[in-house]
Amino acid sequence: LQSTTTLANGVKMPWLGLGVYKVEDGQEVVDSVKYAIKAGYKSIDTAKIYENEEGVGQAIKESGVSREELFVTSKVWNADQGYDTTLQAFETSLNKLGLEYLDLYLIHWPVQGKYKDTWKALEKLYKDGKIRAIGVSNFQVHHLEDLIADAEVKPMVNQIEFHPLLTQTEVREYCKKQGIQVEAWSPLAQGELLDNEVLTQIAEKHGKSTAQVILRWDLQNEVVTIPKSTKEHRIIQNADVFDFELNAEEVEKINALNQNHRVGPDPDNFDF
Ligand code: A2P
Repeated sequence: LQSTTTLANGVKMPWLGLGVYKVEDGQEVVDSVKYAIKAGYKSIDTAKIYENEEGVGQAIKESGVSREELFVTSKVWNADQGYDTTLQAFETSLNKLGLEYLDLYLIHWPVQGKYKDTWKALEKLYKDGKIRAIGVSNFQVHHLEDLIADAEVKPMVNQIEFHPLLTQTEVREYCKKQGIQVEAWSPLAQGELLDNEVLTQIAEKHGKSTAQVILRWDLQNEVVTIPKSTKEHRIIQNADVFDFELNAEEVEKINALNQNHRVGPDPDNFDF
């Protein structure tokens, strides 16, 4: 759990964190984040659109863990994209979280015609020292090429939908070449994969759950992972993936489950 990857600018980012998409603001998110921090998680991934930044901030404050030990991510929502609106949206997120800086701030989706100005705002916030690392989410290779062509600072992270049904080989290879850390959202395919036969067999062999096998597979593919759960026992279980290793054959078997199947929207075809 203390294990980190080093981003292109030298900032250390935990390999595993808690995702809070679809976790309700108030007690539910406060409890989830507190369970996670108590279990040793250092990284929490939220977004403006999740509408739970206040609860995340409350839990961080009440956890008693010092700010510098934690790694907090949020994201600028589509409707806020553009230079000035992004600067404002960032301040709003920071205030809701009750923090002085973010560790990572991402462009949530590649909104055509908007993401380059949005990126300029992220570059400014980064240079001003308000964000330790900046990145994008749901960017395909062509979005990244387009962004990088005009960028002063290259994105340090690309957070994408990634799980055994959607292995995203092309964008991962591109990110590796560019020194961009890939991060998985919905690593458990929002629950769709948990009784998959191949995964169940591998899990039994290791005395682990299918969720743990998937998360271990993320790490062995050098993908940062942020499983979501509101249940304390699952939050603990999901972090217990640093004491076993899948062999090459098992990794390949899981890679072969790919069906290019998305549980979320297609980054080339969304209208929100
Ligand atoms: P819950 O919050 O009730 O634990 P993803 O991270 O891919 O979006 O998947 C999250 C979904 O998987 C949620 O429905 C969550 O439910 C469930 N989940 C998370 N961890 C586990 C686990 N270890 N075992 C079973 N289900 C899990």
